[in-house]
Amino acid sequence: MDGNGRWAERRGLSRTNGHRQGVEAVRRVVDASLTENVRILTLFAFSADNWQRPADEVAGLFDLISRYLAGESRACQRRGVRVSVIGRRDRLPRALTSAITRAEEATAGGRRLWLRIAIDYSAREAILHAVRQLAWDGLRTTASLDSFGRLISNTREPAAWQPTAAEVDLVIRTGGERRLSDFLLWESAYAELHFTNSMWPDFGPEDLRAALHDFRGRDRRFGRLAAS
Ligand code: FPP
Repeated sequence: MDGNGRWAERRGLSRTNGHRQGVEAVRRVVDASLTENVRILTLFAFSADNWQRPADEVAGLFDLISRYLAGESRACQRRGVRVSVIGRRDRLPRALTSAITRAEEATAGGRRLWLRIAIDYSAREAILHAVRQLAWDGLRTTASLDSFGRLISNTREPAAWQPTAAEVDLVIRTGGERRLSDFLLWESAYAELHFTNSMWPDFGPEDLRAALHDFRGRDRRFGRLAAS
C-alpha cells in the first residue's frame, strides 16, 4: 500500500492524512475484491522495519488500524469477510491487539473473502519462526513444502478455503516501487508481480480490475513447458 506519504506531501498534508486516505482505499479494495470474487486478500499495513518511522506516524497508523478493525467488524461479519492478522503481536499497543482479537473472533465464520492484514510483519522473520517451530517438534514430524508453507503463513485455514494463503497468486505493489520488501517471500514463490505507479490513496476498483486482467493474461507455467 505504498504512496500514502507522497500522496499527502504533494497536497501539503501530513503523512497521517495520507494514511487516513489509505484507509478509504482499503475499504474500496475490500468491496471490489468481493465483487471480483477474490478469495484471499493480504494487505501490508505495517512492516517490522516500519518501527524506524517517527513515533507519531507509527502511533497514528496503529490508531487508524484499530479504528478500522473496530468500525468494520460488523460489516465484515455481515458480508462474509473473515479478518485475521499476521505478524508479531507482542510489540503492538494493547488497544490494537484487543481490536485485532475482537475482529478475528467476530468474523471467524466468514467464507466469502479472507482479509489478512500484515502488521509488524517480516517474511524473513516468519520463515525463521517456522524453522524454530519445526526444530522444536522436528523429531516427531516430517516437513514437506506444504506443511512448512502452512507453518510460515500461519494458516490453519478451514478446508473450504481454496486456494490456501500459503500460495500467493498475485502481488500488487503501488507507488511505483519495484521490490518485495520482505512481504510473503515464501508464499510468493510463483506469484505474478504487478507494479503500478498509482499512489495507494488513489487505488480503486478500476486499478484492481486492471491488475486482475494483467494477471489473467499471464502464462503461468510453474516450471513446465508452454502448452503447444
Ligand atoms: C506505505 O506508504 C504505507 C504504509 C506504511 C501504511 C499503510 C497503512 C494504511 C493504508 C492504513 C491502515 C491500513 C488498514 C489495513 C486499515 P508510505 O507511507 O511508505 O508512503 P510513501 O511511499 O509515499 O512514503
